[in-house]
Amino acid sequence: METNEYIRTLSVDIGGSGIKVIVLDTAGNPQTERARVETPQPAKPETVISAIAQLAVGCEFDRVSVGFPGVVRSGVTQTAVNLDSEWIGFDLGTALSQRLGKPVRVVNDADMQGLGAISRQGVELVVTLGTGFGSALFVDGKLVPNLEMGHHEFRKGETYEQQLGRAALEDVGVKKWNTRLEKAIASLQHLFNYDYLYLGGGEAKKVTLELPSNVKIIPNMSGLLGGIALWRE
Ligand code: BGC
Repeated sequence: METNEYIRTLSVDIGGSGIKVIVLDTAGNPQTERARVETPQPAKPETVISAIAQLAVGCEFDRVSVGFPGVVRSGVTQTAVNLDSEWIGFDLGTALSQRLGKPVRVVNDADMQGLGAISRQGVELVVTLGTGFGSALFVDGKLVPNLEMGHHEFRKGETYEQQLGRAALEDVGVKKWNTRLEKAIASLQHLFNYDYLYLGGGEAKKVTLELPSNVKIIPNMSGLLGGIALWRE
């Protein structure tokens, strides 16, 4: 790639409740407003791909980055707890590339969010609070892909996602959810001994607890801004 070549990236964030897109320039600056639609239900591959194609109408872009809410290996989605079982073993990279006629790279949504937010120094952990509980780990900016803390036991026989996902937030309310989050932060600090922890995702705005100095809230937009990094690394 020539240094001043102008390449546009359509960055896509597939979530349990919404699908978001934005076009980024070579430096990762937004070139369009963020567009969003509700995630179709049931969220099967075909309907989600159609929703992305619909959002892309009228956008000019040369390549596509996708953050997917499950484990992703070489463009193939391996888990999709909050979408549909049809995603297991689905080659999203190839299918979307065929639909949009552009090269596509797919990673886990929390991994993509982290790439848009971290400082690339030391051990950095990213947690996303949305429909699910996402997690991503970086060492000096190098990603350990597909860290799935969300489905590990946290407390009272429940996982991080069962205790802190959107369903739990709606069930127990903001106050109790914050108390749980405080416990989760302490537990993750002991486990990973990170230098920084970033809290992102649609529900990070509900965080009211006083955060330790090495814990930062990041804008939900990082999920899309991270899309540019998939073509750098
Ligand atoms: C999935 C993760 C994902 C997270 C946030 C979890 O249920 O297993 O892969 O990152 O939700 O979407």
